Amino acid sequence: MCGIVGLIGDRVKVGDLIEALEKLEYRGYDSAGVAFLKNHELNITKSKGKVESLKNQLQDRLNELIQIGIAHTRWATHGEPNDINAHPHSDCSCKISVVHNGIIENFRTLKIRLQELGHKFLSQTDTEVIPHLIEEYYNGDLLEAVRKAVLKLEGSYAIAVVHADHPDIIVGARKGSPMVVGVNGQTIGLASDITPLLKFTKEVVFLEDGELVELSKGTVKIIGFDGVARKHHPVFVEWSYEDAQKSGYKHFMLKEIFEEPSCIVSVLTGRIKSGHVVLEEFKPFEKNLANSKAIKVIACGTSYHAALVFKYLLENTTDITADVDVSSEFRYKKPHLKPESIVVAISQSGETADTLESVRLAKRCGAKIIAVTNVVGSTLTREADCVLYLNAGPEISVAATKSYVAQLVMLYLLALKIGEILSNSIVQNSELIDRLMRIPEIFENSLKSVDKIHELAKKYKDYKHFMYIGRGYGYPTALEGALKLKEISYIHATGYPAGELKHGPIAMLGPEFPVFAIAPGDSLSPKMKSNIIECKSRNAKILALTNYDNQEIAELADDVIFVNNSNEELYPLLMTPAIQLFAYFVADELGLDPDKPRNLAKSVTVE
Ligand code: G6P
Repeated sequence: MCGIVGLIGDRVKVGDLIEALEKLEYRGYDSAGVAFLKNHELNITKSKGKVESLKNQLQDRLNELIQIGIAHTRWATHGEPNDINAHPHSDCSCKISVVHNGIIENFRTLKIRLQELGHKFLSQTDTEVIPHLIEEYYNGDLLEAVRKAVLKLEGSYAIAVVHADHPDIIVGARKGSPMVVGVNGQTIGLASDITPLLKFTKEVVFLEDGELVELSKGTVKIIGFDGVARKHHPVFVEWSYEDAQKSGYKHFMLKEIFEEPSCIVSVLTGRIKSGHVVLEEFKPFEKNLANSKAIKVIACGTSYHAALVFKYLLENTTDITADVDVSSEFRYKKPHLKPESIVVAISQSGETADTLESVRLAKRCGAKIIAVTNVVGSTLTREADCVLYLNAGPEISVAATKSYVAQLVMLYLLALKIGEILSNSIVQNSELIDRLMRIPEIFENSLKSVDKIHELAKKYKDYKHFMYIGRGYGYPTALEGALKLKEISYIHATGYPAGELKHGPIAMLGPEFPVFAIAPGDSLSPKMKSNIIECKSRNAKILALTNYDNQEIAELADDVIFVNNSNEELYPLLMTPAIQLFAYFVADELGLDPDKPRNLAKSVTVE
């Protein structure tokens, strides 16, 4: 989704704005632009396509010092991606410049009214009404003009505004879209997330919905939409600037997959003591759990697949049922929640619009919200009753990898905790805890298959279709494998429960339609074996992901990727690097950029 940034300080250069935009690229976008003030003159440059092409246009100016600047990566919603629709947008006097993330729902009505007042519009965007509205209200006080303008806006937005007559002020406002303000640095600024600000400061304030911020050199003033001053305590961010760099890897995606063992350690740290799971955050909800005997889980995309693993885990190891819904469906359904209900909302970004709306719906029913997320201070964390942080560090690549692994580990812990609270068999739990503690090391081993997986990616990259199949714990892994492949390599891939093949999809199989079988040696292995034989009889090539002891499956398959032997609950975790690496290498071999897949966004902040 769109990314916005604004920087102010004595040493800010044009190149800093570009570098900040590069940090936001992972959010997904189709055009980019900057507006900066130099010698009291507003300079605007916009470009369709990558930040790289914007950078080329500004090549001769990158080292120029500026007074203030705002910048934007646009993910088109209103009007095609082109230079004119790219942000920043301006008013008629060309003194005001605005960047915006979100959607202005009443822009048509506002545009007609503004046109009647004589305002001239150049783009097809909803955003352009904002600078014109500000122009209408401007009377020498930029903050006040922006405040009056946002009161007229319906929808969701985070905006940054500059005015040629105020070379020392950036104004921001937030309603429904994230905005972080970097404070206490020589250079301060605002942005859609923390990463572009890390170079300048590690102290940030998370603006709340209905707040405006005025940044001038060294000072930050926050007020509500009602004009009343608001107080915030800055939060210190642990992530370092280096964490958000590629560290020698060809792509962020590859780097992030290789960070998975250390992410697992981060999630587990302090969470297991004397063979018991420590999740103090969950304590206040233990009664709710005992009363309701059910948990609702909501999530989107990869997080939804983590939710499915959680469901299998919880339902196979405790008496609790877990009902999992995709957020975009749940938010429009009758929720069937009661005041004692527990809702687990999983979102690596904590900003996914559909998940946030589902959470709000659940809260209106009185349900308690447990958030599982990676981003400190994200909207989800502020609306939830309890937050289980993943501490996985920044994930830059659009496709979720290490955050998925961290989610799985956190959800294992939560399932184990629930088992413990309900006096589930402690013996079974302690065995799983033991294995979980040894997972980082076993995981390193899974990553050693990297060369083998690379070779297989070369062999399979030209197929146009893939069928991923799995059963039980293997089924969510099949779904995630198919999602990873399609999102970054654009190859058609379907994830299916293996037992369902014969009810339709098997009709498609043949020599041109290979099958990626998630086939660990678990209790359902004999069933998977039969399914693989069915596929082979249709002449489909079989690429199997299994464990070392499962020779039967290995013998049936055309190609095999092995992982260590484990107990069946942990295979979704152990098998994840293989499906991620396979998708990564296929995309790379096809000459695609796995970090920035077309049409996709990291943080889906609009419906
Ligand atoms: C986008 C990303 C996916 C992610 C999904 C849900 O589609 O590209 O990688 O899984 O959003 O995001 P969330 O932040 O809620 O986990």
